[in-house]
Amino acid sequence: MGAITKAVIPAAGRGTRFLPATKAQPKEMLPIVDTPTIQYVVEEAVACGITDILIITGKDKRSIEDHFDRSIELEMCLEKGNRQQVVKDLRRISEMANIHYVRQAEQKGLGDAILHARYHVDNEPFVVLLGDAVVYSEGRPCIGQLVDCFDKVGGPVIGLEKVPKEKVSRYGIMDGQKIGPRTFVLSDLVEKPSIEEAPSAYAVGGRYLLTPDIFKYLETTKPGKNGEIQLTDALRRQLGERPVFGYQYEGLRYDIGNRLDYLMTQVEFGLRREDLKGPFLAYLKRKLKAG
Ligand code: G1P
Repeated sequence: MGAITKAVIPAAGRGTRFLPATKAQPKEMLPIVDTPTIQYVVEEAVACGITDILIITGKDKRSIEDHFDRSIELEMCLEKGNRQQVVKDLRRISEMANIHYVRQAEQKGLGDAILHARYHVDNEPFVVLLGDAVVYSEGRPCIGQLVDCFDKVGGPVIGLEKVPKEKVSRYGIMDGQKIGPRTFVLSDLVEKPSIEEAPSAYAVGGRYLLTPDIFKYLETTKPGKNGEIQLTDALRRQLGERPVFGYQYEGLRYDIGNRLDYLMTQVEFGLRREDLKGPFLAYLKRKLKAG
């Protein structure tokens, strides 16, 4: 099997859960410490051998394109101020991968967004990383774990995360059978079920390795939960016709679309930064002591 080199990053959602911050900027550009969320996502893909990235954008998402492009004026200005290292760091962002864009004209759901990648990915397996979620992993990055699993099982792999029962209604939830360490073969997938309906506590965790036959299911998938064309529903049809696998990845997922999670994400990433950890931790300790 050839190496997987293509990734699709859907970033066309409206971000209404994070207003007013997302009124005039995409949620994917919200920073975690000093880096936009989508840059962490691109870096995860690049670290796993992805060289070609298609970002699905939409209205008001221009700043994503600007971020991954070079800014010659800014570089000149920084060079004049002798800030060569900053220039180097900025240039690296625009040279990380071949990044392409396609716009989703109407926000019809994640399934429809992925369908926009059809002609770009052509006939190869590809990975999908949701642009509003970062997965932090000390070892092999999340999407690489899915690639490794695909190399063993040879079929689509959905990244899974175990969630508390009371949170199942926020996610796609799977039913399936464990066939190896962290590995499942799926028998069902339900988008955002109630606690009573949820077949398990294993959620679809924002990372997928898909095969190109998914497009034929997406093409004919009708709007589902919340009136949107759901990727989960297309996968559900696919798993009825061929084995689809799940892999419970190692790593912590940070969903930036939720206010409290976003605050906690800032704290955790801040504490992981060598340049900030000392003074930030001292500040937090003082704050906690003061109550
Ligand atoms: C999407 C998917 C859902 C998945 C979730 C988190 O939902 O539809 O199946 O569990 O991402 O990865 P959204 O959060 O975009 O509503």
